[in-house]
Amino acid sequence: MIVPGHRAQGLAAAVAMATQQPLAGVAYDRFPDGELFHRITTEEMESAVIVAATDSADALVGLLQLQDAAGELAGSVTTVLSYMGYARQDRAFESGEPVSARALAAAISTGTDQVVLVNPHEPAVAGFFDAPTMVCDATPVLADAVDPVHTDPVVVAPDASARPMAVALRDALGRGAVDHFEKTRRSSTSVDLSNDGLTVTDRTVVLVDDIISTGTTMATAAARLLDAGATRVDVACVHGLLAGAAQTTLRRSGVTEIITTDTLDTAPATTTVADALAGCLRAR
Ligand code: R5P
Repeated sequence: MIVPGHRAQGLAAAVAMATQQPLAGVAYDRFPDGELFHRITTEEMESAVIVAATDSADALVGLLQLQDAAGELAGSVTTVLSYMGYARQDRAFESGEPVSARALAAAISTGTDQVVLVNPHEPAVAGFFDAPTMVCDATPVLADAVDPVHTDPVVVAPDASARPMAVALRDALGRGAVDHFEKTRRSSTSVDLSNDGLTVTDRTVVLVDDIISTGTTMATAAARLLDAGATRVDVACVHGLLAGAAQTTLRRSGVTEIITTDTLDTAPATTTVADALAGCLRAR
């Protein structure tokens, strides 16, 4: 049975359809003091697959509550993290700093028999979980939403760690070239990008990354690409956090289309990871 986390209800319903499993009833309540009280209202289930996005502290607590409840009702609990918050804090740079991804993974591991992660910021994040953890790469589904105007695009990653996504997207499209920038982050709203051999003159470009948060990275890259002669730049990501004025920042930089999936309820999704997740769940 598919148990929907509060912040991934749309995706949970789509996964239920894709896997042909029933969708559990849930109630997302709060006590008067603000504390959460998430309950599963379906009384019987053989196994539970919780689909949750932990993009806030409340969403994390809600997931822990659903895991605890599911553990009482079901013989096994699988936790699908469509988006794992804090995963970008995957190392400590100075003494005294937490590895937040490790801390959250430890907490989430206590209430589950296995974990499925959709495009964590780094694959190594999977190693922080104490429960068996599988990574589901949803990059190929982005191809479904790429406009056919991209007959021979350059698929560009804004940094070296996203280059495998650019390769995966180009392969899913079945056409185009791949390139990437080297990125140095100056602050949360400033990045430097370099690529001395950029060849995008008279080409369309699809920029791809795991996450768009403030839009700074993609907007900076889009402006560079248009300056370098690209005729059109679309951006694609798995996790569309689109924080604050991200959509405006992207449009002002010259981006034509913003492609996102439904790993977060916050984003105006243009494609779904449900079928990819159904495939990963079958492969467990
Ligand atoms: C970080 O390296 C991630 O892969 C993304 O590039 C980053 O989260 C994007 O953040 P923003 O949209 O704020 O530039």
